[in-house]
Amino acid sequence: LPPVIAIDGPSASGKGTLAAIVAKTLGWHQLDSGMLYRLSALAVLKKNIQSDNEAEIAKVARNLNVCFVGQQVLLDNDDVSDVLRTEEVGALASRIAAYPLLRQALFERQLAFRKAPGLVADGRDMGTVIFPDAKLKIFLIADVNERAQRRYKQLIEKGISANLVSLLDDLKARDERDMHRSHAPLVPAKDAIIIDSSTLSIEESVAKVLAYWSA
Ligand code: CDP
Repeated sequence: LPPVIAIDGPSASGKGTLAAIVAKTLGWHQLDSGMLYRLSALAVLKKNIQSDNEAEIAKVARNLNVCFVGQQVLLDNDDVSDVLRTEEVGALASRIAAYPLLRQALFERQLAFRKAPGLVADGRDMGTVIFPDAKLKIFLIADVNERAQRRYKQLIEKGISANLVSLLDDLKARDERDMHRSHAPLVPAKDAIIIDSSTLSIEESVAKVLAYWSA
């Protein structure tokens, strides 16, 4: 099987950016697993399914008609790249991610991203559940205030209005849900390397991961 680098960690720790640059540098494939939870949430909203209907949500996730075209994500042939990033979709994704049936429904879909010459996968359970045999496991953390600042800057740069205090509250609530759900909670794998990116630039985080990979 092709090698995997798993990058897990809490919301807004910079996993996505880090994973994208590492994948590009190595010429490997990338899996943004959060995107699959967001796609499921969006499909649930579009189909007007109740957020507590676990069985129906799992069914929708199993049957997602999704297509990746370059940087674009198409759901039922609509470009949903931007709407996937909205707070509404993210908040629902965070809630439904606690459902074991949903996580199961997305399991095989995630394994399918493992292709030669290798895969960089980011999320919450890449190193613990989806790719337990990953050659390198990184657990990326950052101080919650720093994460809120980063998310705030990201939104402002995109011209989206944001409130730092509510972003901070929201991140704390997401951390709570991610760490305390009964199924696949957010914990570092036993063999993960913990990197605290609070005071690191993106370039410095990338350099660390590449150094661990070639070591
Ligand atoms: O970074 P952020 O929390 O905004 O979003 P994301 O990484 O796109 O993930 C969306 C949601 O899916 C998160 O709130 C996680 O709770 C959940 N998720 C998960 O449970 N397992 C994964 N492997 C990836 C994401």
